[in-house]
Amino acid sequence: MAELIKVTINGQVFQVEKGARLIDVCRENGYAIASFCYYADLALQASCRMCLVRIEKMPKLQTSCTITCDREMVVTTESEEIEKARRGMVEFLLANHPLDCPVCDRGGECELQEMVFDWGDLEERFTERKNYAPEKFLSPIVANDSQRCILCKRCTRVCDEWMGEDAIEAGGRGAHTVIGTYGGWLNCSQCGNCIEVCPTGTLLDATYRHQTRPWELGRTTSTCSFCSDGCQLSVGSRRGEVMRVVARDRYVNGHNGEFLCIKGRFAHPFVNHDERLRTPLVRYKKGGRLVPATWEEAVRFAAQKLQEVKDTHGGGAIGVVGSPRLTNESNWAMLRFAREVAGTDKYMASEAFSLVPFFENLSAPLATHRDIRHAKTIVLVGGEPEELQPLTGRQVRQAVRNGGARLVIFNSVPIRLKEQAAQFVHIRPGSEDAAVLALASPGDAEVAARKLGVSADEIGLASQFISETAGDVVLMFGGELSAEAQAVIAQLPAIFGEKEGRRFLLHPLPLFNNSVGVHDLARCTSPAASSLRTSKIARTRSRASTCSSFRSFS
Ligand code: SF4
Ligand code: SF4
Ligand code: SF4
Ligand code: FES
Repeated sequence: MAELIKVTINGQVFQVEKGARLIDVCRENGYAIASFCYYADLALQASCRMCLVRIEKMPKLQTSCTITCDREMVVTTESEEIEKARRGMVEFLLANHPLDCPVCDRGGECELQEMVFDWGDLEERFTERKNYAPEKFLSPIVANDSQRCILCKRCTRVCDEWMGEDAIEAGGRGAHTVIGTYGGWLNCSQCGNCIEVCPTGTLLDATYRHQTRPWELGRTTSTCSFCSDGCQLSVGSRRGEVMRVVARDRYVNGHNGEFLCIKGRFAHPFVNHDERLRTPLVRYKKGGRLVPATWEEAVRFAAQKLQEVKDTHGGGAIGVVGSPRLTNESNWAMLRFAREVAGTDKYMASEAFSLVPFFENLSAPLATHRDIRHAKTIVLVGGEPEELQPLTGRQVRQAVRNGGARLVIFNSVPIRLKEQAAQFVHIRPGSEDAAVLALASPGDAEVAARKLGVSADEIGLASQFISETAGDVVLMFGGELSAEAQAVIAQLPAIFGEKEGRRFLLHPLPLFNNSVGVHDLARCTSPAASSLRTSKIARTRSRASTCSSFRSFS
């Protein structure tokens, strides 16, 4: 644990961790500090100078985003001198910025507008003609009003550090510096995260802009249902119509921060789509047409048909199919319906990639997103996190880029995360199982290497990375693994054994948003609560020996 030290902020003494960032410490203790360029967990930019504070024994005002706490630090966050300096900076920021918030699409949720509103006034001494640039599109989803840019570079850092795309950058010089693309068009994954973090109306959602004002929107906090990362988001709607989806931290505070991928942010038009089914359809006669019905009529008709099947053939003739896209509660209700109403044990939640062997053989806890972000070694066998779990992909990238983690990838495809990998082992398609065998059983490395189409040294290096790690090792895998290989990877922590300072964590990349929950619920024969209890025990139980499936696999 980090050493605790005393710092004084505005006359009050606080105990804080030595080395904590001053801007965070001030904010955590209730002292608001303005900032444009500082963004937690991104590389420091330190260009806006809005976060200025006075620190005793230091000659000038200091940027609190670049200062870490040290013993007996005495800090002042508010004074005439500090406000004068901040106002001076904003005056520069506004030198070329149009003063027309009422027609700006970000009006009402713009950090620059809010700051000036908080002050109540701002002197503007520049009388020169402002630089003018017309609004343009950088892609079908990113609109750009470059004259509103304050060059905080949140967008460029997010694009680089979260997405690994580096698709936008500052170009030009001095007062003519603008954020732009390489070639005038954004050839990127269109995640929209640059729009989200932009504090002003410079980067805008082209699918939403100028359709409504933020204060006209109703807001509903929800969970994205496109993948198992479970990002928290805020759905903005007007008169019952979904207008946009954001993760802006003023509206929602999830484990994803302000991150959303293209699916979570932009794949919502199906909700309002004209062809979306909005009422049940019933085919009353075989070969007949589907006829719109009320829910009551549809449920009554389905119940009658099920009763006929049950009376004629027994409950066993009925099968009930849940879904890994449904919540635990919905799947549990379906399971109870199957057992208690239909009288059948034929229940399944369709799942192309079963995780049963994995969960039956767990020898280490599952990794959280935070664990992945701070891991020291990440081993990925098969799978493509950026397709299956884009937020996990971002955590992997930041673990490497900002945390110095070693990433080892076994894949038959050079996935984009390869650019961050300390080692990319390009294996033959369909040989992922052999990669797991090679890690579990060094004696078989030669055989496995031949199957993988790589040299045994490459496998040795990957094993060495795992063995040497001081800190967390995350073992991640995709749906290419067979049941046997899943069982083995679940036991790799036990096979590698304990070492002081090293901890193993496991992370499957399932296909659907609730694949894991469905495994917990659909397989249980006891009530839900006890099934969850059982699965928790299973997750933390450590098994020292390899299981029979490993023996048969090897
Ligand atoms: S949409 Fe995403 S990938 Fe494209 S420029 Fe913006 S942050 Fe980068
Ligand atoms: S476009 Fe927005 S996020 Fe990017 S530098 Fe300009 S103001 Fe900052
Ligand atoms: S990462 Fe997954 S949960 Fe998050 S927005 Fe994308 S699809 Fe949704
Ligand atoms: S927030 Fe510190 S310099 Fe911008």
